[in-house]
This record gives sequence, C-alpha cells and structure tokens, in this order.
Amino acid sequence: MPGRLFSLKCAEEKRIKTDRRSLNTAYKVICMDYFKLVDKAYREHELTKDEIMRLLDPKSDEEEAYLFQKADELRHECVGDWVHLRGLIEFSSYCRRNCKYCGLRRANVSLARYRLSPEDIVAIAHEAALLGYKTIVLQSGEDEFYTADIMAYIIKAIKKIADVAVTLCIGERSYEEYKIMREAGADRYLLKFETANPDHYQKMHPDMSYKNRIDCLLMLKDLGYEVGSGDIVGLPGQTLEHLAEDIMLLKELNVEMAGIGPFIPHPNTPFRRAAGGTLEMTLGMVAITRLMLPYANIPATTAVGTIHPQGRQKALMAGANVVMPNVMPAEYRPRYEIYPSKICIGEQPAHCRMCIEGIIRSLGREVGRDYGSYRGR
Ligand code: SAM
Ligand code: SF4
Ligand code: FES
Repeated sequence: MPGRLFSLKCAEEKRIKTDRRSLNTAYKVICMDYFKLVDKAYREHELTKDEIMRLLDPKSDEEEAYLFQKADELRHECVGDWVHLRGLIEFSSYCRRNCKYCGLRRANVSLARYRLSPEDIVAIAHEAALLGYKTIVLQSGEDEFYTADIMAYIIKAIKKIADVAVTLCIGERSYEEYKIMREAGADRYLLKFETANPDHYQKMHPDMSYKNRIDCLLMLKDLGYEVGSGDIVGLPGQTLEHLAEDIMLLKELNVEMAGIGPFIPHPNTPFRRAAGGTLEMTLGMVAITRLMLPYANIPATTAVGTIHPQGRQKALMAGANVVMPNVMPAEYRPRYEIYPSKICIGEQPAHCRMCIEGIIRSLGREVGRDYGSYRGR
C-alpha cells in the first residue's frame, strides 16, 4: 500500500528531523552551559572542581576559542599588555633527586653534568642585565654543593652590579636556608608542586614527600618570597580530575606565579615511552588558571614552545604574560637536558633576546620594562 508506505516514510522523516532538532538544542544547551561557566569564572574567579573539569573538556572549537578569548581579556585587564622577561641561568645540572619524568634525575648517568662557579654565574647575570633583563632566575637540579651561604654570596653579588629582581628555582631546602637566601636579597622562589594529588605525586617521586613539598611552599610564603608553583600537564597516570585539583591548589596557595607546561618524555627516564602533554590541554590549563588567578604572573613556557612552533605565542594569547628565555652561553645548553629537543638549544643569549622581542611585538604586545612583580596586592 503505497499511501501507507508514504505516510510511514513521512513520519520517519519527521522523527529524524525532530531528533536532529532536539540534538541541536541539547548541543546548544551544552555550549551555553560552557559559555556561562567561562563568564562565571571571568567574573568571580571561583569554580568548583567539576566546573573546572568541564572547562578542561570543551566540546567544540567555539567553546575552546571562547575560553582563550576571555582569559586573554582578563589578562589584558589585570596585568596589562606587557610581557615580562625572566632571564634563565641554568647554573648546575647535578641533582640528588630522581623525579621519574626528568632528564636531570640522578639515575641518568649518561648526562654530562656541569656546575658553574659563583663568579661565572654573576658574569652571566651581568650580561643578561645588559641585554635588558629585569629579572634573573637562578635554576638548577637539587645540588647541595651550592649551600645557602654560597647562594647568598651569588645573590648579593648580582644585586650589587645589576638592577634586577632575583628568582630562585633550586628545589627543597630548610626554612633556615630559605631565610638566609631571602635575607641576601632573593625576591621570588619557583617550586612547582608538579601534581596536586598526593597519590599521583608519590608515583612521580617515589622517594620524596608531598607534605614536604607543600611545607616548603608555605615556608617560602611565610618568608615573604613571591612564590611560583605549578604542574606538568600530561604526566603518566594524570586524570582530568588531577588537573582540576592542580588549579584548585594554585588558587588555595594564592601563588604569585603559576607555571604550567606540557610533559615531554625523556629517553633516559622510566617514562621514555609515555605520551607527552598536548598543546590543547596545556593552553586550557593556562587559560583557566588566568581566570581563577587574574593577577598571577603566568609564563608561556619553553616546554610549550618545544611541542609546537607557535606554542609560546598561543599561550601568550590564552592568558600568559611572562616568558623565560635562556641566558646561558650556547655551549652549556645541551647539557641541561630536562627533556629532548628544547628550543633555543644552539642559540646565544643576545639572539634569544632579539627573537623573543620580535615574537612579543608580532602579537601587538611590549616587553615589560620594570621587574614585573606581582600586581595583585
Ligand atoms: N630542581 C628544581 C625543581 O625541581 O624544582 C628546578 C629545576 S627542574 C628541571 C624545573 C622544572 O622542570 C620542574 O619543576 C619540572 O616541572 C620541569 N620538568 C622536569 N622534567 C620535565 C619534563 N620531562 N617535561 C616537562 N617539564 C619537566
Ligand atoms: Fe632534579 Fe628538579 Fe629534575 Fe626533579 S625536576 S630530577 S628535582 S632537576
Ligand atoms: Fe631563543 Fe627564539 S627565543 S631562538
């Protein structure tokens, strides 16, 4: 019976159309829910763990683009268009720790290690200041060769010859040691918690203590350092919930600086075959962190620039306002191999300084001319 068949076909087409419409409506509701959540974060800087997890999981390019756009807007409103440069001095590649993800871990015996003398460190800092850097970051593996007194000597010597802020990134020390270095003039300290989840932390650092890591951050706060912390995106075993916990811990600690970079597997570590962190997830984390901590200094990391040629540019357009170019002479750079294929590996400091200024200007932004201290007080 063609008539009945015809009406059955019509009914089926109508059902499909209705299904499509309700699917479209459901899809729009999901999108609206995402946009509203971004707006809420933009206005209130408060989100629950579930809400952060939702923002970390955009369902379309439009949702993701909106997140980045609002993070960029808030960055502009709260910390301006300046991009602050931090000149990074990687002064020792010796490390007593064995973090499972890091190429500097003590079990990596194939790395040719080096230590710079205090005089060489001060000379490199001086060169960096002449290139216009207003902050020097002194970074190393956890190397006890550099006692607090030696670090104090270096900090004082740098401050005597250069008008710069000094950031330390040398790992876990005692309260007394942090105090000596602070009194010598250190302004900031960068110590990432790497993952906020205690069980996950233990898996990444079997011989370290999560409690001690957090205690160190609290001591640094107590001593009046501007404190930076953060995580690694894409570590093996990491879940979306862990990432949301990372942002919540950054918020709880009220850090002045939030460092978020992708995991890059190193061939001489237990995680050599693991997948690395993605650009999308790293940018999402940067953007949500900006929305939650509007005044924080947030770097576009070297690691994000390593996994994508435009990685640092994209991070700077998704909430970041800091870059940390390497100011080490080129010959040392391959020997500080946290992860492989790092950008800038064969470059001299003057080249990176020019290059980064070009990148910043190409985004319509300017290199910061002051210390780039925390502006949230
Ligand atoms: N030893 C100090 C510490 O751990 O705080 C400072 C130097 S450590 C090399 C600096 C940072 O490198 C760590 O906080 C960690 O987040 C990052 N890192 C180490 N291995 C990495 C990897 N394979 N991929 C991405 N980041 C890594
Ligand atoms: Fe050492 Fe830091 Fe690497 Fe851990 S992350 S192995 S403490 S240099
Ligand atoms: Fe080093 Fe571009 S910043 S080469």
